[in-house]
Amino acid sequence: MPHAAITAVGHFLPDERLTNADLEKMVDTNDEWIRTRTGIVERRILDEDKATSYMASRAAQEALDKRGVTADEVDLIIVATVTPDMLFPATACLVQDAIGASNAWGFDLSAACSGFLFALSTGASFITSGRYDKVLVIGADKMSAIIDYTDRNTCILFGDAAGAVLLEPDTDGYGLLDAHEHVDGSHDQLLCMPGGGSKMPASHESVEAHAHFLKQEGRAVFKYAVEGMAGVAEEVMEANDLTGDDVAYLVPHQANLRIIDATARRMGVGRDKVMINIDRYGNTTAATIPLCLHDWESELKRGDNLILAAFGGGFTWGASYVKWAYDGADVARTNLAEVSASLG
Ligand code: ACO
Repeated sequence: MPHAAITAVGHFLPDERLTNADLEKMVDTNDEWIRTRTGIVERRILDEDKATSYMASRAAQEALDKRGVTADEVDLIIVATVTPDMLFPATACLVQDAIGASNAWGFDLSAACSGFLFALSTGASFITSGRYDKVLVIGADKMSAIIDYTDRNTCILFGDAAGAVLLEPDTDGYGLLDAHEHVDGSHDQLLCMPGGGSKMPASHESVEAHAHFLKQEGRAVFKYAVEGMAGVAEEVMEANDLTGDDVAYLVPHQANLRIIDATARRMGVGRDKVMINIDRYGNTTAATIPLCLHDWESELKRGDNLILAAFGGGFTWGASYVKWAYDGADVARTNLAEVSASLG
């Protein structure tokens, strides 16, 4: 049975930056509070007239270009997102059209900040079953579309971005070797967007109540997030007889630097082996983990053991054990302007 190996990584980041200094002018907050409580310095914000599929398509196209794979070779597209362009059609359909993946089908997967890991595990099963050779797994969120920029509890946390990986079969022992996933729906009110679904369709009242924005009980979620992310990372390490010394990198969801540090401590992994870019992008929900893989790609070596871990709304949480399949230093950098130009 083949494993599903990540054979290329792509990303998209909007140009516009929203800094802590900008937020100081919008709500009652300050740079020092944001840095010490979260580790965030700035985030990226997508143009108002663009949506999640715009970022997802560009991240996917970059991954394909780097691997020299054409869009018509792709079998399946999974987009992890909580900010789809529309409730339907699925963002995956819009990506399929934008990149010209004429032979692919696809769907969206909703698992908030664990979305990319759940999508990775789902996509991998289509490879290990022998059904497909090329699966695109994308994590993309335009969080600025569902953030209340008058609420200091949440608006400092989130940013917009997309990341994508290409999965292909590997028979040499590289790729996704294990994945552990969990959900617990009993805390739905602690982290949710109450409006816009079938329970509370849009109305004058729902808009006035700011119900179409993300709501979070930060302190309570923090407690569950630390336990969930650290616990599941430890779980996947134990299941595979890994110690901190065996791990080349922890690739954590970027929600809060303190949650990341707690996870690394529990795993026995030093800061030098933890991918951290929350300072530059904030929490980009489903995009954080592929964005880390993109930023660290040139340092990754064939055979590196990676532990990917996430916790998010739902609650959802999970961790994956990936044996990296290629030397990142050999990958030619693609010109993102060319990727964008090719999509028109
Ligand atoms: N600036 C200044 N003060 C603030 C701000 C702000 N931006 N936000 C809150 N405060 C105040 C609060 O009002 C509170 O004041 P009070 O004590 O007078 O009431 C005080 O600061 C402390 O607030 P806490 O909420 O206790 O702050 P905490 O240290 O918990 O940090 C945070 C808040 C950063 C949100 C943290 O709780 C957190 O990271 N939670 C988990 C986030 C997470 O992992 N989410 C899951 C993924 S997201 C997803 O799935 C979409």
